[in-house]
Amino acid sequence: LLVAALIEVRSCERFGVLAAAASEDDPELAEFYRGLFASEFGHYHVFLKLAAKIDDEQRVEARWQEMLAAEAKIISEEPVGPRIHSGW
Ligand SMILES: [Fe+2]
Repeated sequence: LLVAALIEVRSCERFGVLAAAASEDDPELAEFYRGLFASEFGHYHVFLKLAAKIDDEQRVEARWQEMLAAEAKIISEEPVGPRIHSGW
């Protein structure tokens, strides 16, 4: 569930970036991306809520923070370059 939440929150961020990038030239596309941002944001929260239902909330939060730190470390050690799921 936490891995799924991580995937969803990163998708959410990407759609937020796309919405911002499209907002000036293509408001309709920007609105489409904002809708996807909202969907992914909701999915991210659902996965975290489900995780908190099957285990102690503090343990879930501690594990979530561990995963975020591990992800940040992995991303910071990768070379910069274009990828679907990359750091920069
Ligand atoms: Fe999603």
